[in-house]
Amino acid sequence: MEAVIADLLPPLRAAPARLHDAMRYASLGGGKRVRPMLAFAAGLVTNAEAKRLEVVATALELIHAYSLVHDDLPCMDDDTLRRGKPTLHVEFDEATALLAGDALQSHAFGLLAEHRLADDPAVQLEMIRHFAQACGSRGMAGGQAIDLESVGKALSLPELENMHIHKTGALIRASVLLGARCGDPLAQADLDRLDRYAKCVGLAFQVVDDILDEESDSTTLGKTAGKDKEAGKPTYTSLMGIPGAKRFAGELLADAQAAIAPFGPRAGRLAELADFIVKRNR
Ligand code: IPE
Ligand code: IPE
Ligand code: MG
Ligand code: MG
Ligand code: MG
Repeated sequence: MEAVIADLLPPLRAAPARLHDAMRYASLGGGKRVRPMLAFAAGLVTNAEAKRLEVVATALELIHAYSLVHDDLPCMDDDTLRRGKPTLHVEFDEATALLAGDALQSHAFGLLAEHRLADDPAVQLEMIRHFAQACGSRGMAGGQAIDLESVGKALSLPELENMHIHKTGALIRASVLLGARCGDPLAQADLDRLDRYAKCVGLAFQVVDDILDEESDSTTLGKTAGKDKEAGKPTYTSLMGIPGAKRFAGELLADAQAAIAPFGPRAGRLAELADFIVKRNR
């Protein structure tokens, strides 16, 4: 992914060089690459071509990188450490962080429009529509808005779930569905199975992020630990306690695995990734 992303980003020395440099700073040299891995794993279920998956995986990772750059800004979570390095607005400046996020987002959509991702152009359009929804006010950006509105509030469990499903779940769901749709068409029942898996894994991802924020340390995470409590953010751990949050993540993992069991070995990578997402330490 490192080489693929580097290749698909605008050339480093092209003007405006400082903005292009910031886009690389945000998206290269770190990160677990979970969304690309999910897209590739889902592509294995449908025999998707690697070339198509590379484009989808890059678009997903660029959107994710942009979301982190904006999430770290002083007007949002006000973080200074990301992936073991100074956050982009610290290393560059706030205006560049804003613009790098904007440009990463448009670049991601440009890639999906420039490269062939499906045999049927109507399918490709539908993929881009799904992707746009996952990123926008009814997906990730909407989830981030709920997150900011919720500071200092005691959310109910359904309200917290709704926030997590949007801010993190939507892009993870898009990773699985777009990866799968790069390959052979799936019957609706099979798409529904993948979608059930993706919803469980997407929610579990943020539940575990909340647990790690409380349990881990900044060196292991590469970002400032203990931030959620300090900022008064409602999280799964603040609502359920750490044991309750861990139990819930375990239940989501079991549901995710059950959803894809009918695929057998071709969903092996998806099964491994669900396991990794719940048992990860950073
Ligand atoms: C962190 O995402 C932000 C959330 C959506 C919880 P990741 O944990 O995937 O961050 P990187 O890409 O590995 O740095
Ligand atoms: C971030 O959630 C979600 C998105 C960036 C969409 P967090 O604010 O919990 O992510 P971290 O903990 O800073 O990585
Ligand atoms: Mg945040
Ligand atoms: Mg944050
Ligand atoms: Mg977090």
